[in-house]
This record gives sequence, C-alpha cells and structure tokens, in this order.
Amino acid sequence: MPAYRFPKIAASEITPQSVFLRRREFLAGAAAAGLIGASASPSLAALAAKPSAYKVSDKLTPKEDATTYNNFYEFGVNKGDPADYSDKFKPRPWTIKIDGLVAKPLEIDVDQLIAKMSVEERVYRFRCVEAWSMVLPWSGFMLADLLKMAEPLASAKYVAFQTALRPDEMPGVGGFTPILDWPYKEGLRLDEAMHPLTLMAVGIYGDLLPNQNGAPIRLVVPWKYGFKSIKSIERITLVEAQPPTAWNTAAPDEYGFYSNVNPKVDHPRWSQATERPIGEGGGFFNSPKKDTLMFNGYADEVASLYAGMDLKANY
Ligand code: MTE
Repeated sequence: MPAYRFPKIAASEITPQSVFLRRREFLAGAAAAGLIGASASPSLAALAAKPSAYKVSDKLTPKEDATTYNNFYEFGVNKGDPADYSDKFKPRPWTIKIDGLVAKPLEIDVDQLIAKMSVEERVYRFRCVEAWSMVLPWSGFMLADLLKMAEPLASAKYVAFQTALRPDEMPGVGGFTPILDWPYKEGLRLDEAMHPLTLMAVGIYGDLLPNQNGAPIRLVVPWKYGFKSIKSIERITLVEAQPPTAWNTAAPDEYGFYSNVNPKVDHPRWSQATERPIGEGGGFFNSPKKDTLMFNGYADEVASLYAGMDLKANY
C-alpha cells in the first residue's frame, strides 16, 4: 500500500521548515524559469494547504481504498471502474464557469482559481447511501468564498452544479442504455452551499485529486450522502427554483433532493442505521459495522439549516 501523509498537521510543521521553504522557492523559481507552466504552479500550492479546524479524529481510510473504491458512473458502474478507466480523462487545462443569478458571472482557469483561494486541509467523514463510509483528508476551499466572488443576486435561492460531459474521455457515457441523464447534475439550497463545511475539493491525501476522485475540482458536503458530492465540476449556476439532480431524476423514490445523512430514514434498498468503514479489514463485507450518526456527525453545525422541516418527507 503506498505511503501517505497523515494530514493532522500542516505540511509546514511536519516537514523541516528549511526544506519546506526550499520547496516553495523551488516552485517559484521553476515557474519563473518556465520549467513548469503558468497554470501548473498554482495547483501545486494545494499541496501546502493550511491546516483547518475542521477535522474528525476517526482513523483515516487508507489512500489505496479511497482511490480504487469509487463511484463515478461516467467511467463505469463498478467500484474499480473509475480507477481503471479514467486514464484518458484530461483534467487540465480546465475552465470552471459560474453564471445564472449573479452580478458578476465568472469563467476562470481552475489553477488560477486555486491560486486565488485559501486552500485548507480538512478531514471529513464521508458516507455513501450504499452504507459504506470513509474518512478522508481533502484539500480545498469554501464554496462560499467562490460564490461570493460572483456576487449572488437576492433572487438566487439554489445552486446547480454540472459535471463535464466528454464521451471520448469517459467510457461509461453513451452506449445503448444510458444510466443517468448526462451530464451529471447536483444541487444545494443557497444556505447549504454557503455553509462553511461545504468544500470545493481540489486535492486529497496532500496531492491533487486523481481523476477517479473528481479531478480537477469537486464538491464535498460532509453531512449529505456521497452522491451529492459531484465530481469534475465545469459549471455552477445560481437559480431561483430547486434544480434537477442526476439521482433524483433517475430514481425519485430512492434519492431525494436533500439527501441528508439520517440513520432514522432508510433508503428502500439499504438501511441507513449503520455503515461499514471501508478499509477496516478489507472490502465492504469484512468491515465491522458502526452506527451512522445524524447528519453524519455534523448535527451541531448543520441541524439548524433544517429546523421545522420534515426530514422524512424531505429525504
Ligand atoms: N459525480 C459524478 N460526476 N458522477 C458520479 O457518478 N457519483 C457520486 C459522487 N459524485 C458520481 C459523482 C457518488 S454515488 C458517490 S458515493 C461519490 O461521488 C463517490 O466519491 P468517491 O469516489 O470520491 O468516494
């Protein structure tokens, strides 16, 4: 299993400072000398992300599991497909667009965006509706900071997200039986999107995101089931009405718009009361079960967003 850096401490603290500073000098020097492209150096800055207060103490999922046990249907429906079939996908150069009900629509190269933002390293719980879970060290910045750059109008009530659609690079797209209504779409209410826990992730385990994990930029909403965390985002649109989402469109009885982790509301095919942490004993069925927490353990931070709402009806 490849070694990985346990991300509890900032890179600047675990690396001798002289080495850390030399690395930064090297990057700056290399960029100035044209050794690495103008768009390559800012993204490398994600590797030196600042530590964050948002960390859980649970044991990290081994990197090997987190990068080979994935859902990314554009590359196939089996858990190993995204790692096996995403090598043709080109996440750079990449432009992300923010439009809709905003005063300042934005279209920006992802590496220029990363260079502008305050990138943090955060360890989050991640729970899939299929009753497996992981604990992952993301590098990213708050979606709120990005949305503020575009200045949402008062009429904006929801945020719609869209994944790139590239049949030539995504072997799971096309064919006779399309699985989802491509491109993959997701949505959040504006207050959910502006919540400080809501992260735009650009890295994982101290490195840039691998293709199978949603390179170059994806959403991470730790109190919602994993499918809300849309990958390889190319467009974010502020809208007035609740936007369609990929899984809600495909199977509305199974996947609601809210999809908050809730041990008391079962999915028709999977109990949500317990989960199996991937990597604790190899594979899904060998992992010991543990209780799922309300809002995936983030109730103190997010329960107030849903005050007065019937969470059975709004599943
Ligand atoms: N985003 C896109 N574009 N396509 C997908 O199929 N799958 C979702 C979500 N984001 C998916 C996606 C589901 S079902 C889950 S559980 C998570 O990504 C998985 O993220 P991970 O593979 O990084 O663990």
